[in-house]
Amino acid sequence: MPQLHVVNRAGVESTVEAADGLTVMEAIRDNGFDELLALCGGCCSCATCHVHVDPAFAGRIAPMSEDEDDLLESSDHRNEFSRLSCQIPFTSDLDGLRVTIAPED
Ligand code: FES
Repeated sequence: MPQLHVVNRAGVESTVEAADGLTVMEAIRDNGFDELLALCGGCCSCATCHVHVDPAFAGRIAPMSEDEDDLLESSDHRNEFSRLSCQIPFTSDLDGLRVTIAPED
């Protein structure tokens, strides 16, 4: 199974494995990271699944939709590597992806 590296808000990195076909949000949430609230369950309407993607992977992830872009605009912690993790399908192409859970807004 592809591996995902997750850096929590304390800066501690953990590695989890996730079945192909989950979203990055589901892979994080299902592995017990309580910091990632994902309140809307992946409907792209809450922005509580905000992560910063490792720059090395930024070009390998599908571009964001207008809805995702609008939601991220409401975050004080948006940067050029911001994504909503529920909008990133975690496929084996992204094996080794590193994401950092964004600070809480
Ligand atoms: S879980 Fe709500 S926008 Fe991603």
